[in-house]
Amino acid sequence: MKKLSRRDTLKQMTFAGAALAGAGLFGPNTAAAAWQPTNTSVPRGKIRFGVSGLGGRGINWIGQLANHEDIEVVAACDITPAAVTAAKHFHPSVSYYDSLDKMLVHEIDAVLIATPAFKHASDAIAALNADKHVLSEVTACWTMAEAVALYEAAKRSKAIYSFGENYCYFYHMLEMKKLYSEGLIGTLNFADCSYYAAYREMWIPFCKHKFEWRNWMPQSYYSSHVVGPLLFATGLRPVAVSGHESPNSIPSRSIGKLTDEVASFAVKLSNGATAHFVNNFMSAASTFLWWFLSGEKGSMENDRTGGGLHVFTKSGVAHSTPTAPHSAEKAAAAGHGGGDYFLVHDFLRAIKGDAPPAIDVRTGLEMTMPGILAHRSALADGQWLDVPDLDDPACRDRYRHDTATPFTVHNRPGDVSPSVLGTPAPDQGVWVDETIGDDPTAIAEKLTAYGLAGWKV
Ligand SMILES: NC(=O)c1ccc[n+]([C@@H]2O[C@H](COP(=O)([O-])OP(=O)(O)OC[C@H]3O[C@@H](n4cnc5c(N)ncnc54)[C@H](O)[C@@H]3O)[C@@H](O)[C@H]2O)c1
Repeated sequence: MKKLSRRDTLKQMTFAGAALAGAGLFGPNTAAAAWQPTNTSVPRGKIRFGVSGLGGRGINWIGQLANHEDIEVVAACDITPAAVTAAKHFHPSVSYYDSLDKMLVHEIDAVLIATPAFKHASDAIAALNADKHVLSEVTACWTMAEAVALYEAAKRSKAIYSFGENYCYFYHMLEMKKLYSEGLIGTLNFADCSYYAAYREMWIPFCKHKFEWRNWMPQSYYSSHVVGPLLFATGLRPVAVSGHESPNSIPSRSIGKLTDEVASFAVKLSNGATAHFVNNFMSAASTFLWWFLSGEKGSMENDRTGGGLHVFTKSGVAHSTPTAPHSAEKAAAAGHGGGDYFLVHDFLRAIKGDAPPAIDVRTGLEMTMPGILAHRSALADGQWLDVPDLDDPACRDRYRHDTATPFTVHNRPGDVSPSVLGTPAPDQGVWVDETIGDDPTAIAEKLTAYGLAGWKV
């Protein structure tokens, strides 16, 4: 009988086994085994990272990764020279490139993708094709065709894909995951989850450019931050989606953003339960993240602000403030309440072959696709749409050529408009580059500057 290697063993582990045996709290949601690659290139010594995309998040990531004792950030890239200059100022020892393709030639083990959301899947596919491990920023993809292509690229690659949904690692979320797996509230029968944020002021400098991704991104597209943690905590899968949106209005229109104000969508989960998600970035003043999980035996919810967790069972109400499961000091120095630290911690474990990816490609896409489909559903008055099972080749074939994107200047049949109102007009003079109008050459130049060359708009 063939002796199983450590990696073979990992590949055969089920979710429960892997989570409990190796990964502790940070185990995967799924039987990652069946689909995880036969990665053989387990790097020795420090893991050499390249960072793609040097906006605020990418530069912040270089700093966070460089602080890690097991990581060396050796390369970075951005198509915008000013972004490279800014990154060089903070991190002069890194080698910089003006494209991902060039950076992939550098000797690196892993790529952290922090480009605009619509680039994540194509960047991840390029890196996986070069057998570089990928930690992708949210969201995992922008179109349904990309979901299929990314899934298949991750299965083909010798490298690992891990979805960087850091909100899964909020300490109250980790505690909810633990309590749920222990059966404290029984089987989930309903969840109500919200990500409300007052980002309008912060987005003004970005949104004044016509082709800025934030302007064209339907609100529900960015909801893995609220969907992901629920799937992570319960191990459930999304099965179908019905979406509704409060239409584009003054808060968005007045800064140049063309998408709707509030996305609200219901998701049927694999055990029959329903979850309700709300997502809004243009809130006047409220910023909060809230998950309420109701089960047959009880319920639990986190504080809308602050780190508290409240559990309601027949024994009464228990209040706690969960803390870091380990490495508290290092985690405290990381972003997003320590979430970024644990995200990287799990990614390194997966690269080294100590555990399957905590959020593998299928789960990452299942955290992302409900948001894409919720917008489509909202455009069809809330029609229920199935979330494809990407393990099923027939489901993949159904979406393989579904390249519909909200990035359309003039909508074409089969595309999705950014808003339930169509493509709204922003307030006069908000876009500094508005004068490019509809001239195809000017548009093509602008798109190239935004890294959108070759994109259908
Ligand atoms: N997980 C989190 O908590 C979190 C927080 C902030 C941002 N993010 C995500 O990180 C990503 C980056 O966020 P940001 O605020 O830095 O965005 P940003 O728009 O400010 O920066 C993106 C950078 O990518 C560069 N870029 C564009 N196309 C490129 C290409 N083809 N190759 C290389 N570089 C390219 C741009 O020039 C820009 O410098 C976004 O997808 C965002 O959703 C996640």
